Amino acid sequence: MYFDSHAHLDDRRFDGDRDTVLAKMAENQVTGMMNVGCSLESSRRSVALAETHPHIWAAVGSHPDDADHVDDKLLEQYRALSAHPKVKAIGEIGLDYHYEDVPREIQQRAFRMQLALARELNLPVIVHEREAHSDALEILKDFPEVTGVFHCYSGSWEMAQCLLKQGWYLGFTGVVTFKNARRAVEVVENAPLHRLLIETDCPYMAPEPFRGRRNDPSLVPLMAAKIAEIKGVIPEEAGRITAENARRLFRI
Ligand code: NI
Repeated sequence: MYFDSHAHLDDRRFDGDRDTVLAKMAENQVTGMMNVGCSLESSRRSVALAETHPHIWAAVGSHPDDADHVDDKLLEQYRALSAHPKVKAIGEIGLDYHYEDVPREIQQRAFRMQLALARELNLPVIVHEREAHSDALEILKDFPEVTGVFHCYSGSWEMAQCLLKQGWYLGFTGVVTFKNARRAVEVVENAPLHRLLIETDCPYMAPEPFRGRRNDPSLVPLMAAKIAEIKGVIPEEAGRITAENARRLFRI
């Protein structure tokens, strides 16, 4: 019933108990998951996971922290990986001005190159955008054919309206359950339920009452319960609709 639209189950923090996590996920009715790449290595691991698990799909791409490795040769590798039938998106790609490990111009260049790849392959994108709202929107203007999801959405309701109008989905992590999550709650409150996605971004962003601990896909129902509370529906309804959204966006 539930769908985790953004997970990093290939992370080495799951090496000791990945099968246990997968079993717990099934027990909690999380019946689908998108495993997202951050680099060539993790994109390869995502495809390998998807290949061996019927309920897992993969996204390939380079995170802004890894943008300095993006060149034509790397795009060629992503193009080849995307030929796999379980690869359903390019991501996560975008801009992160919070740490700025990689200079902004290099991040922007990598973002543009990977958006062009998504356009060429007719795949949706998974965007990571932190403290770079206006630059991200500006770049996206050059790729009107490309949509997808703004994962771990951190923008304003105003920006959300702009993205929704252009066909984007908004992804929410455990952050929505935090006491100080006023902004995220406001966006969830106002956005239509059929354009929201639930994601763990595991191993990060665990929801309350597990904040700060390792997150995993079995905790999706906790986020669905919070979103249901905000939207005034029952948790199963929030779970079902957000899962349908993920399957629609990723064409699963
Ligand atoms: Ni992520």
